[in-house]
This record gives sequence, structure tokens and C-alpha cells, in this order.
Amino acid sequence: MNIIEHPRPLRAQTRQWRRNQKSIALVPTMGHLHDGHLALVEHAKTQADHVIVSIFVNPLQFDNATDLKSYPSSIASDLQQLSSLGVDAIFKPTVDLLYPLGLELAPKIHIPLLGDEFCGAHRPRHFDGVATIVSKLFNLIEPDIAVFGRKDYQQLLIIQRLVSELNFNIQIKALDTVRTGDGLALSSRNAHLSTEERELACMLYATLKDVAEQTEQHQLTDNLPALLDQAITRLSQASFKVEYLDLRDANDLQAIQAGTTQAIVLAAVQLGKVRLIDNILFKLADRT
Ligand code: PAJ
Repeated sequence: MNIIEHPRPLRAQTRQWRRNQKSIALVPTMGHLHDGHLALVEHAKTQADHVIVSIFVNPLQFDNATDLKSYPSSIASDLQQLSSLGVDAIFKPTVDLLYPLGLELAPKIHIPLLGDEFCGAHRPRHFDGVATIVSKLFNLIEPDIAVFGRKDYQQLLIIQRLVSELNFNIQIKALDTVRTGDGLALSSRNAHLSTEERELACMLYATLKDVAEQTEQHQLTDNLPALLDQAITRLSQASFKVEYLDLRDANDLQAIQAGTTQAIVLAAVQLGKVRLIDNILFKLADRT
């Protein structure tokens, strides 16, 4: 496994593969890998001749210095796991290599509307940071395919829009959220949950599932605000601080309309010091 820090050898590697008519899949990550990340890597292996995993804790997407500093890292075990999966190359640059002028002077990409609500409203500039780093990785690696998780659903839509609006010639593949047995979505941040918080954390998924099931069964509309309120109250009473919990059209995160067929219930909560996000996608019968 080729471990690359600098953009120049990275380009030399990808150029060599491309000269040999080989396809490339990229899996961007911030490290501290878990089975959710590894599922993306396994999928990437089935999609292209060569797989590159990037590991970079991107400071531009953190709105809070403490959060950035405490972001968990386990590079030795990450590398070991990726090597045993047969990954071809790791790109793990330094901040200076990717932002040579510093964060303030780095050009930033903003995706209007889609990036302004939900996580975008609670973490200003977060999605500018994501869109910028993903664009840089796309330009540096020029993969044929890039693989992302539906766990970060708003991020996935933003990346899809980035690709279509900035004309990247890259196919985006999306994979379902990998969960623990009790339903908690795997996340690098789960490492910071206390034992009691960890036990409680699965209630987020259970609550979203309840909203999705009730909506599906009763064909929503009228009682939707009450249903969402109940879900928020239930979580708040169990000591979650709910940033948002809503039900939207999964195509664009806008309000459900008569023609909506794919819905998403999505939420972000704070549990102690840990921020958790999760969502469930489900079909709505045509109500036109
Ligand atoms: P990170 O949080 O490390 O996640 C990397 C990829 O793993 C993302 O596509 C994310 O959606 C996916 N992922 C995380 N948890 C998952 C789970 N439980 N099941 C399936 N997939 C999961 O997302 C980022 O990093 C960054 O914002 C990044 C895109 C790398 C840009 O810096």
C-alpha cells in the first residue's frame, strides 16, 4: 500500500494508473475508521481497478477549534485495516500542503440553499469546508468514482450538486448507513460517548424509525407537525439537545409535496459533548 503525503507523488501514481487504462475509486475520510468507512472501501474495490482512501481532518469544515482538536485519530490502526482490505494507496496530506496560503485565504466553495439549512444552519461554513476539500481531492486525484455514506445525507446531496454544477467527471456512489446491533449509526465521534450516553444514544435511531413508520402508515400531512413535536419532546426529555428533527423530500431536502415519493426523516442532536446525526430514508405512496 502506497502511503502518499504530497500532491506530486499522488499525481505521479494516478497518472501511471491512468496510462495503464485503469479506473480509480476514491473514498474520502477523516480517519479513525470504523465499519461504516470500511464498507465504503469494500464497495469501492468492486467498482474500480484501484482504490485510494484519503485521510485528512479538514480544519476548514470545523466551526469550533475544540471540536477540531478533540477529533479522534488512530492512524496506525487505520493504515493496518486499509492495508488488509487491499487498498492501493492512502493520501494523507498535511494542512500546509492543502492550504498553503492558510485557511483565511483559501478560496471556498459555497452551495446555496442546500448547504444553508439543517447542519449548515447549526455549523456555519461547515459545508463550504466540505465542498472545498472534496473539490480539491477530486482535482488532485481525478477519480472515476467516489464513494460516500448516506449517514451524512445533506453532505451527500451537496457533493452530488457540486459534481453536477462544477462539471466534475466523477460518478458518485452512495452507501447505506452501517449501524450497531441496537441501531446507533457508527461514527468516529461515538468514541467520546460515556457508557451511559452510549446506552442512551440508540434512542435517536428508534425515534426516527418511529416517525418514519407512523408517517408511512398514516400517509402524514395533517398530523406531521404534532408527530415531529412528540419526537423532539421524547428526545429532549431523555436529555438529548435537539438541533433539528424534520421530515423532508429526500431529493432536495425541501418540504414534502403531493408528488414526493422518497422522504427522509433527519436529525442532529447533542448528547453530552457529542454531536450525533442520523436519518432514515423511506418511500411515500403517491398522494396526487
Ligand atoms: P468522515 O466523517 O470520516 O466520513 C467519511 C465517509 O464515511 C463519508 O462519506 C460518511 O458519510 C461515511 N460514513 C460515516 N459513517 C458512516 C456509517 N455509519 N455508515 C456508512 N457510511 C458512513 O464525511 C467526512 O468524513 C468528511 O466530511 C469528508 C467527506 C471526508 C470531507 O472532509
